[in-house]
Amino acid sequence: MLAVANLQKSFESPEGQRVAIVNVPAFDLAAGEQRALRGESGSGKTTFLHLIAGILAADSGRVAIDGTEMTGLPEAKRDRLRAEKIGYIFQTFNLLQGYTVLENVVLGMSFGPHGADRAHARQMLERVGLGHRLNHFPRQLSTGQQQRVAVARALANRPKLVLADEPTGNLDRKHAREALALIREVSREQGAALLLVSHDEQTLADFDRVQDFGGINAAAKA
Ligand SMILES: Nc1ncnc2c1ncn2[C@@H]1O[C@H](COP(=O)(O)OP(=O)(O)OP(=O)(O)O)[C@@H](O)[C@H]1O
Ligand SMILES: [Mg+2]
Repeated sequence: MLAVANLQKSFESPEGQRVAIVNVPAFDLAAGEQRALRGESGSGKTTFLHLIAGILAADSGRVAIDGTEMTGLPEAKRDRLRAEKIGYIFQTFNLLQGYTVLENVVLGMSFGPHGADRAHARQMLERVGLGHRLNHFPRQLSTGQQQRVAVARALANRPKLVLADEPTGNLDRKHAREALALIREVSREQGAALLLVSHDEQTLADFDRVQDFGGINAAAKA
């Protein structure tokens, strides 16, 4: 489902030196599998997810999602593939502030394989418990509700892979637990694989499979 091989990314430091951040020789995820990666702040987790999603271009190596090679494609094609195959959930939700809850999900769908299907967007929002908040703007929602909109948006395109970057980091304990359960349930219902990164032990404890990011990232040992 997800196959990563020899994936490398370095950044230039302000002093002009190349610093290796990601060097992952091999990482795989099976269809429908749910796995968490544990890693401390600055270890390269977000960079790794950005490379998988094609938000960032790798220096070298391969990422294949659902049999489709992602690396080496021009940005526009990576964007299209991401819309087709991936649902991305951000720590800071990344909702469009000038648009309503419903519009946020519909806009997310407009780049995807099923198009801007308002009825499906509404269904997704009902699924995450926000059927009564469709015409609210993000700022009119609680933080837990905003993350639920982001979950609905990420899953509305029926992605094969859901990437969640510290999705509970801005929520209190109770809402973190709720958001995590929702992300896991909806991913499972849709048969999507889930890869979540976090340094929060309570979030990680929810997963049967937890891997240390430092263990798969050779750059961390350099
Ligand atoms: N565009 C960039 N230019 C230079 N360095 C960068 C850039 N993006 C990230 N880095 C560096 O790469 C390292 C890893 O960053 P990344 O955001 O992937 O870490 P993280 O594991 O997600 O951390 P956190 O848990 O705090 O979110 C950091 O040391 C950061 O300074
Ligand atoms: Mg991060």
